[in-house]
Amino acid sequence: MTDGCRPCVLIWAVFLLSSVMGYRPVIIVHGILDGPRQFEILAKFINQSHPGTDVTTLALYDYTASLKPLWQQVDGFREAIRPIMESAEDGVHLICFSQGGLICRGVLATLPTHNVHSLIFLSSPLAGQYGDSCYLKKIFPKFIKSRLYHICYTTWGQRISICNYWNDPHQRERYLKSSIYLAPLNGEIVHANSTAWRDSFLHIQTLVLIGGQDDGVITPWESSIFGFYDSNETVVEMEKQDWYLRDAFGLKTLNSEGAVVKCVVPGVHHTSWHSNLTVYKNCFY
Ligand SMILES: *[C@@H]1O[C@H](CO)[C@@H](O)[C@H](O)[C@H]1NC(C)=O
Ligand SMILES: *[C@@H]1O[C@H](CO)[C@@H](O)[C@H](O)[C@H]1NC(C)=O
Ligand SMILES: *[C@@H]1O[C@H](CO)[C@@H](O)[C@H](O)[C@H]1NC(C)=O
Ligand SMILES: *[C@@H]1O[C@H](CO)[C@@H](O)[C@H](O)[C@H]1NC(C)=O
Repeated sequence: MTDGCRPCVLIWAVFLLSSVMGYRPVIIVHGILDGPRQFEILAKFINQSHPGTDVTTLALYDYTASLKPLWQQVDGFREAIRPIMESAEDGVHLICFSQGGLICRGVLATLPTHNVHSLIFLSSPLAGQYGDSCYLKKIFPKFIKSRLYHICYTTWGQRISICNYWNDPHQRERYLKSSIYLAPLNGEIVHANSTAWRDSFLHIQTLVLIGGQDDGVITPWESSIFGFYDSNETVVEMEKQDWYLRDAFGLKTLNSEGAVVKCVVPGVHHTSWHSNLTVYKNCFY
């Protein structure tokens, strides 16, 4: 090889490398009472459509540990996600399932230097949860939803993940006073870091919201696309929510830039979102 050929070799090496390593790494954050095993099929879909993509499903706070307080989980997930981001020059894609969506929002809020390109919320209770579900019955077998605020809206209750996003539309005042997680994240209460969290949220390039009416767990299901009940339990869509109109955490700005994509799919139960090829092709791809 003559010296004159070195640049060509270099160009070829870069070309080959980028065609092999052309996809941004994907990080998956699991939901409540599950772990990485539930995401093997999704990882396979990604590998098939984008061969060679580095997919990491974080094995942290799995199964019953997923009931730990969300701010504590955020600390753990942030430290696991940080090195993956730092070695991904071109940014990463973040897929967050169910409760994991709320964890991802906490991570982004407290990681202002993040480089998340696409943030995908897969059936996540983004505006809160108010409904009986099989999960709720496992955790609070004796409680009905209308009474749960007695537990959730206390200092003790806020040490259980599910209470961190319990949003009882008949107990607004108590919710705003007690919620140390969802209310500040959604800008329903103003706090010292509101502006910093908003700036960090606005660093996302694309926000994908996936959900559907046959989910069976997220209640109301519209919470997965930022809708929620008013005090009459009538669902108010994202664009009419007070915190949206005030652009409290940047959602309105992102939406006005065309960066928010809603993907509503009927016929999918909560536990099937990450293994449904139709959903993958229509919403992720
Ligand atoms: C990705 O697919 C290739 C074959 O197309 C296979 O050899 C490899 O093991 C797969 N990787 C993962 C992590 O599934
Ligand atoms: C604001 O962020 C700083 C740094 O992350 C943190 O130490 C502090 O507790 C936060 N304050 C509030 C009110 O969340
Ligand atoms: C709830 O319903 C009542 C009776 O239909 C109505 O007067 C009231 O304005 C409604 N409240 C909200 C917040 O929509
Ligand atoms: C997959 O999603 C489609 C809708 O896109 C739905 O009709 C089908 O029943 C789903 N399959 C499973 C196994 O959930």
